[in-house]
Amino acid sequence: MTPPSIPTPPPFRRAARIARIELSEIVQLTERAARLRAEGQDVIALSTGEPDFPTPAHVIEAAHQAALAGQTRYPATLGTPALRDRIAAQAGVERGNVIVSTGAKQVIANAMLASLDPGDEVVMPAPYWTSYSDIVAMAEGVPVVLDCPAGSGFRLSPEQLAAALTPKTRWLMLNAPANPTGCLYSAAELRALADVLVAHPQVMILMDEIYDLLAYGPVATLREVAPELAGRMLVVNGVSKAYAMTGWRIGWGIGPAGMIAALGAVQGQVTSGACSIAQAAALAALSGPQELLAERREILRARRDLVVEGLNALPGITCPSPDGAFYVFPNIEGAMARLRLESCAAFCAELLEQEGLALVPGRAFGLPGHLRLSFAYGTADLEAGLARLARFVTAGMATAQDGDRA
Ligand SMILES: Cc1ncc(COP(=O)(O)O)c(C=O)c1O
Repeated sequence: MTPPSIPTPPPFRRAARIARIELSEIVQLTERAARLRAEGQDVIALSTGEPDFPTPAHVIEAAHQAALAGQTRYPATLGTPALRDRIAAQAGVERGNVIVSTGAKQVIANAMLASLDPGDEVVMPAPYWTSYSDIVAMAEGVPVVLDCPAGSGFRLSPEQLAAALTPKTRWLMLNAPANPTGCLYSAAELRALADVLVAHPQVMILMDEIYDLLAYGPVATLREVAPELAGRMLVVNGVSKAYAMTGWRIGWGIGPAGMIAALGAVQGQVTSGACSIAQAAALAALSGPQELLAERREILRARRDLVVEGLNALPGITCPSPDGAFYVFPNIEGAMARLRLESCAAFCAELLEQEGLALVPGRAFGLPGHLRLSFAYGTADLEAGLARLARFVTAGMATAQDGDRA
């Protein structure tokens, strides 16, 4: 007797809200680089957004002690009282104004899921951190992307902001120091943006300050410049970047209590409270010695200067010097033209194939014609990476000239 045939299930059907969302281009590229390396190829990846420094030893010790002391049970959904109080004290707010989440990324996702109805708009300057637009789309909102090219210092102007705001705008997302450009806003520039926002009370402001301790000069904050916006502002930060704790997954949001409670309602159904042991580690990072930050900032500054000088020496590449974070975002249009490569994605793909150097195309950040290089790597890797890029660009010059003669 033949067994009854079992119907083949149809291919997985994605919900419309994630139909266009894939693993980020940064993750895909980093995984491709890792695969090539596993196959025995000599690959340098200057593509990921994390410092190469170790997590400070006293932070690891605090995590160990917390685990031994039994901090191993479900933590409170909005974060452990000790960590929330520490963050609140630093910011001059109350515990109820603070939520601790599984990375700064979850704070942003919580905020969008908690606030957006389908079709609500979120204004963001481009280039932006890749996840911003995908998180908004996942929450069924509409990213409204405003081009802020190098000529404007990659900064949003008050005129652009005013023209973009509509009755459907729920949020402005700002990030400074920014990923991928490292740009900062002066107090006067922030004040000018605030003056526009004052007339639009329905617009909330998400200020992502995750790189604020990694700036190479003074940082002005919207909180200080425009305290009247505090009632509709969510400040996002965390230990991932400054304290070299990307794997611990602790970030936080500071905002009005009603907003924080709504973020908590989302978090309560997604992850519950963030890892208790990692929260103890984050507390140790915030309350322990801070000298390491200045030391590491100086190391990063030296790497920044090395990379900016190296890139500007290459034909067809121009690279502004970033004011913060650990990325440079050079324009490569000249080099693309010489190499007859149509897109920055094709440039990065060829660079990885031919020279074993992984960099991220600017289109992943909403501004094609550029690439992002992270300088949170050792000097030897940075110098080797620059040498490979130089070989790629100048070899291309020879090919293009040959082609021109043919
Ligand atoms: C601008 C920006 N915000 C937030 C994050 C996320 O930080 P976390 O690792 O704490 O989720 C990143 C990480 O790359 C980032 O670049």
